[in-house]
Amino acid sequence: MEVFRICGGPPLKGTVNISGSKNAALPEFAATLLSPETSTLKNVPDLSDVQFMAEILSELGAQVERIDRTTWKINPRNIAHRAPYELVRKMRASICLLGPLVGRLRMAEIPMPGGCVIGQRPIDLHIKALECLGATIELEKGIVKVNGQNLKGSKIFLGGRHGSTVTGTTNAIMAAVLAPGITKIESSACEPEIIDLCKMLIKMGAKINGTGSHILEIEGVSKLNGCTHEVMPDRIEAATYAIAAAITEGEIILNNARAEHLGSFINVMQESGVMIEALSSNQMRVGLNESELNSLEIITLPYPGFPTDLQAQSCALACKAKGISILTERVYPSRFMHVPELMRMGADIAMEGSSSVVKGKSKLTGAPVMASDLRASAALILAGLAAEGETWVQRIYHLDRGYDAFEKKLQALGGIVERIPESKLPKSFSTF
Ligand code: EPZ
Repeated sequence: MEVFRICGGPPLKGTVNISGSKNAALPEFAATLLSPETSTLKNVPDLSDVQFMAEILSELGAQVERIDRTTWKINPRNIAHRAPYELVRKMRASICLLGPLVGRLRMAEIPMPGGCVIGQRPIDLHIKALECLGATIELEKGIVKVNGQNLKGSKIFLGGRHGSTVTGTTNAIMAAVLAPGITKIESSACEPEIIDLCKMLIKMGAKINGTGSHILEIEGVSKLNGCTHEVMPDRIEAATYAIAAAITEGEIILNNARAEHLGSFINVMQESGVMIEALSSNQMRVGLNESELNSLEIITLPYPGFPTDLQAQSCALACKAKGISILTERVYPSRFMHVPELMRMGADIAMEGSSSVVKGKSKLTGAPVMASDLRASAALILAGLAAEGETWVQRIYHLDRGYDAFEKKLQALGGIVERIPESKLPKSFSTF
């Protein structure tokens, strides 16, 4: 396994190009299955999760061709309805294949996704949506088996204990677009990634009203066409680099970064003294307004609330802010695997239920740390950029799932980060 070696200190300066959104690209790969015609996806990020999704589509029988680093062509003329366990277990987002397989083939068999370190990751709302549309569902030996022969439009309420469900909404939409009749989805997720998916589906001929709101109305059609779609930029990647600029007291320009997708994040950062300004609809500048950051108060919520996918990275920033910061998780209450690792670097964090209480102005010093999930990995790297000395982040395969060329982009901004194969680790390196 590879390791990141980071030398803390240099303020980041320069320009970074943000890649396409992982959380838009994955459901959009799945959406190509809704038509027998070929679709082309552009601005696709170069990530291991995208590679996994491409492999799963191939296993289902689609012809999948990578045209260049960010362009994929998918011909799903002949596909089966069973997804392979070996691949699905590697990426829980493959659950968003349920909707398109049921919509197109009226059948689907997807292994139940496992949980992960950020939480249990249930799919009860996904199942509820398909049952509302007339599908029958069995869970047999860990496989979710869906029979959608009697699929028809219906009313679906998708709210759960923790608010709406993003991939649950994508499944409901992708089953409904080919279900005869009218479907009304209430308490739909309205993340920008959902809007981007709806834009793609409308290009394919779907009839969807209400995109961007919590109520979607879909009129089923008998067939969808192939399309060419450009994946929206990754707002979580953009905000991660914004925090990288703030935590190193640098100043960077983010290209392909839409401030309109990050309202809540920008508001919290500006209140803390981070300078974030939109230079255009697609470009942002980030630096510091104050010499010292004020404490952060964050509660994660479904969009347009503060994104849970930025909570860990913000916790790293809070270590440098003045005073006491409180970060509360309302989406994944146990999403705090980054906390013990940040404490190894000198962070002063206490846990109170689903809140982390961060005592600011901690002196962060480099240390060997362990990545546990995608966003926790990013948080540890951000802390390493600001820490004194060397930080070694292990298990960075977690990072490669969702950040395209992370070390290369940081190097271009002046960050001292290198990817080291495990065989080249110094003898003194203490692996856990
Ligand atoms: C999507 O996951 C994202 N992944 C996650 O990003 C993101 O953290 C999450 O949405 C929330 O924004 C992709 O889009 C591929 P949810 P998803 O269903 O759809 C509960 C990253 O780091 N829930 O919106 O799986 C659930 O337990 C990843 O890029 C149910 O109770 O998340 C959670 O508390 C991590 N029943 C809340 O809803 C269900 O049937 C939100 O989950 C489904 C979800």
